[in-house]
This record gives sequence, structure tokens and C-alpha cells, in this order.
Amino acid sequence: MSKLNEIVDETIAALEEMRRSGVTNVSVSPATLEELGRLPKVVSAQLAPIEASAKVCVKCPELVRCRHNVVFGVGDPHAELMFIGEAPGRDEDLEGEPFVGRAGELLTKIIQAMGLKRHEVYIANVLKCRPPENRTPLPEEVANCLPYLLTQIELIKPKVIVALGATAMKALLDVQLGITKIRGNWYTFRDIPIMPTFHPAYLLRNPAAKKEVWQDMQAVLAKLGREVPKR
Ligand code: URA
Repeated sequence: MSKLNEIVDETIAALEEMRRSGVTNVSVSPATLEELGRLPKVVSAQLAPIEASAKVCVKCPELVRCRHNVVFGVGDPHAELMFIGEAPGRDEDLEGEPFVGRAGELLTKIIQAMGLKRHEVYIANVLKCRPPENRTPLPEEVANCLPYLLTQIELIKPKVIVALGATAMKALLDVQLGITKIRGNWYTFRDIPIMPTFHPAYLLRNPAAKKEVWQDMQAVLAKLGREVPKR
């Protein structure tokens, strides 16, 4: 555990102890409040135990047998923008990081085309373990793993979510239509605007669909109040 995480844990424990012993008010100077507001590590400290429990999760026996790594998520825990994919593939399983294979390279290019850097957004998947042969996640696997993603969203509080492909879209939205019909339209997940779009792996097979994804990303940038970079 890093030193900062220890400080955060000890501070939380001390505040809880004060509350238990009846303290109802603590005065904090405006400068300290400002400093606290700038502490991204507070969210990483909250994510750390969730990641630790995902890493030892054994709810999906087939995935547990095959996995090399549990792929929790990567990026800025204070990101305004969160991308959610389906599940780790072979490269992600080996490296322990989402979207690092061919589809990941394309996602990184999309992020860069938006004028952002990969480390400025947060990237996660619905499943944290690779399904064998990259098969589509089973409904019970999604149900087992979804609480991790929901906690990530709750802690990170992105301003906008991009759901990459049908699995991410179906995990978060109660929609019956396919991704081709749904993409490009805004939906809401727990008050957060969510844009479903095509998965980068689909774009590798159907490069003509990049045009639509770029339209969707322009809408995302507009929603974030950011300028659309010239291409
Ligand atoms: N496809 C996904 O949905 N997620 C990854 O991390 C890699 C490929």
C-alpha cells in the first residue's frame, strides 16, 4: 500500500472514531478543503479495496480457471469520461490492463483523436476476467461481475460514459434494440449521460463504421463542453 493510501485510511478511521464518540462538527479551513478537492488519490484509495476483492474473486469458476490476470480498470480515477468495453481479451489477460491489444490500439487512437490522452480517461470492462476463446460473456458472469463496474462508476462519477458495443450497452441500459439502432443516441445511467457506440473490435472488421463512431465521439465532446479537434 502506498504511503498516501495509508494516510487516507488512517484519516478515515480517525474521523469515524470521532463520529462514534459523538463529534458532530469538524472545522476545516477553506485552504484544506481546496487541497482535499484536488486529491485524486482519495478515489484511488476507495477503488483499491474493490480492485483487491476483484483480484481474488472466484464467482465464475470457468473464468477463474483460465485467467492469468484480473483486469480491473485503468486511467484517471477523477476522469470526466469513462469508456466501458466487454471483457479482457488475450493481450489484456496477459498484461492485466484493459484495451491493450489491437482493439485497444484503435481505442487509444480514438481517444487521441478526441484531443485526450489515454491516462486522462478511465477505461474498464463489464467482465474483469477473460472469457475462454473470447466468447461472449454469459448472463450469470455479467451478473457476478457487474457490482465491480457499478462501484467503479459510483466512485469515479464520470460526466459521460461511452458504452463500447452491445455487452456494455446491455449491462447498463434496459434497451431491447441492437447496438446499430441504439448508437449515436444519448441514454442515461444513474443520471450520467451514456453514449453507446460500436466496439473498436467491430471497427477493425468494419472500418467504414469509424465514421459513425467519430460522430458519436463528437457528440461526447460537445456534452463535455470540449472543442472537437480538427482532423
Ligand atoms: N475488448 C474489450 O471489450 N475489452 C478489452 O479490454 C479488450 C478488448
